[in-house]
Amino acid sequence: MDVLKKSIIFVGGKGGVGKSTSAAAIAWKAAAAGFKTLLISTDPAHNVGDIFSRKIGGEIKEIAKNLHALEIDPAVETDKYIRSVKANIKGAVHSHMMEEVHRQLDTAKASPGADEAALFDKLIHIILEERQHFDKLVFDTAPTGHTIRLLTLPELMGVWIEGLLEKRRKTNANYTQLLNDGEPREDPIYDVLRERQERFSKAREVLLDDELTGFIFVLNPERLPILETQKALELLHKYQLHVNTLIVNKVLPEEADGAFLKERKKHEKQYVKQIEETFPKQQLIYVPLFSRDIVDKQHLTLYSEFLQ
Ligand SMILES: Nc1ncnc2c1ncn2[C@@H]1O[C@H](COP(=O)(O)OP(=O)(O)OP(=O)(O)O)[C@@H](O)[C@H]1O
Ligand SMILES: [Mg+2]
Repeated sequence: MDVLKKSIIFVGGKGGVGKSTSAAAIAWKAAAAGFKTLLISTDPAHNVGDIFSRKIGGEIKEIAKNLHALEIDPAVETDKYIRSVKANIKGAVHSHMMEEVHRQLDTAKASPGADEAALFDKLIHIILEERQHFDKLVFDTAPTGHTIRLLTLPELMGVWIEGLLEKRRKTNANYTQLLNDGEPREDPIYDVLRERQERFSKAREVLLDDELTGFIFVLNPERLPILETQKALELLHKYQLHVNTLIVNKVLPEEADGAFLKERKKHEKQYVKQIEETFPKQQLIYVPLFSRDIVDKQHLTLYSEFLQ
């Protein structure tokens, strides 16, 4: 799998197809090969900890040799995020306005999108700063729609901030003429926005760098996952994010016996054919359906042997 050579790997896909298992197996394999690896779960319904029978949580924790893990808790991150925004605007807003601004921010905390923005900030922090401490980052993401939003945010937020900056520049220019005899004044809000914009574009560069970052989608040989994967890949493609690897997971093994499984296998063959036709450019990795769930490191090792 070429993608295993990248230093940042995102694993996405529809709910329940095997994202967490695949991400854990990839991280497990990388760690065994001697890479200092960080496995990050961005899914609010975490299950990475289950596989390693460890409680992971919001701080980076070493869970095996060379292997570290982190489960991002959107609620905790939102709290931290709002606190940092409050700290950032201190000094930029008149003290008598502070109470009202805080009230607005606390309302914002509960608004839709706040968790996502906070998660996104954390992600950027991992990609820009935390990466320096690791050889590999493996992201286990939430089901498809969410992942796509997350990955396309640097671009969307970039455009949005550009708009805000433009407004700010105009307002400042007007004030400057009116109040300061044309002397430019300092604007802390402008600076904060500018800094965020720089971080977004740096993160975007990393995500778009084919040498550095790889995207994997996991799917099962069934009708809906194929359709959803196709849609997701097309959308990501529009944002210049190219998914070159697909893990086709839970493929019935050839030796599956009994009339029922034989019948299922017959249908599955058509879906496998459809996958090959729909994704001619992608590397396809097949992982069989095991006779039981992947619940421990032994099973994970078995699973990871298919990820060549
Ligand atoms: N090849 C396989 N054989 C047998 N069981 C598997 C296989 N792959 C995954 N599983 C099991 O399927 C279940 C779902 O897998 P997993 O949690 O990795 O999916 P997910 O895509 O992360 O799900 P979610 O969208 O809920 O996060 C788990 O119980 C896992 O152990
Ligand atoms: Mg999962």
